[in-house]
Amino acid sequence: MHNPLDDAAADPFAIAREAAERIAERTGVDRHEVALTLGSGWARAAELMGETVAELPATEIPGFSAPAVTGHVGTVRSVALPDGRHALVLGARTHLYEGHGVRRVVHGVRTAAAAGARVMVLTNGAGGIRAHWRPGTPVLIADHVNLTATSPLEGATFVDLTDLYSARLRELARSVEPTLEEGVYVQFRGPHYETPAEVRMARTLGGDIVGMSTALEAIAARHAGMEVLGVSLITNLAAGIGSDPLSHAEVLQAGRDAEPVISRLLARIVERV
Ligand code: HPA
Repeated sequence: MHNPLDDAAADPFAIAREAAERIAERTGVDRHEVALTLGSGWARAAELMGETVAELPATEIPGFSAPAVTGHVGTVRSVALPDGRHALVLGARTHLYEGHGVRRVVHGVRTAAAAGARVMVLTNGAGGIRAHWRPGTPVLIADHVNLTATSPLEGATFVDLTDLYSARLRELARSVEPTLEEGVYVQFRGPHYETPAEVRMARTLGGDIVGMSTALEAIAARHAGMEVLGVSLITNLAAGIGSDPLSHAEVLQAGRDAEPVISRLLARIVERV
């Protein structure tokens, strides 16, 4: 299916504004103050945060595409929070490894900004480099190392990434759950999992978590002026950290097992954001 973002001459921000207008039209909600991208294991949080006002297939919104992976849902939802604000829940993430280019990867974030969101919550399922993080452990993202060799920003767009993962929001998350640890997320392109040597490299570079999303989206969110909260669900020990081989099925199962607990946690955090 044709995606307008694939046209090199298109303005991705104009398409994000169109997408936001479509969402406002279809949900009847003019402004979404908070937005969330829900990765593997996090999908149920949407139900716990509040009442779903409307849910639309991502394919009906300009620039979005159907998810390529099982375990990722392809909808965009508007959720009414108890205090009257609205959250935009993006269940359709496009990964860099799908090969559709970085504009598509960050389109959800740009759409959220155009829909009025000041806070972007990015969640994911990821591999843990610290051996004491068992599958099912949620970890706050304190910073990232972007190993994708690309950026969502085009041209001479110099954006400050100091405090990219808001210290204020991490503090707020810890006020909900004081035992939350934090770590540095290393984004690889994927879709293959890392080799043990790459995981050792990531650790040497200061990384604690490895995954295939989030960093590029966080950069786009900051560029759009949003405050970013990043949370990883450790679904497995990174390659070579544990003795087991990695499998997508195992990643999904760890997500399913942890879902009730981490979804509740996320809902409580969003209430206070
Ligand atoms: N590496 C990269 N991405 C992942 C992993 C991993 O170990 N687990 C879940 N997503």
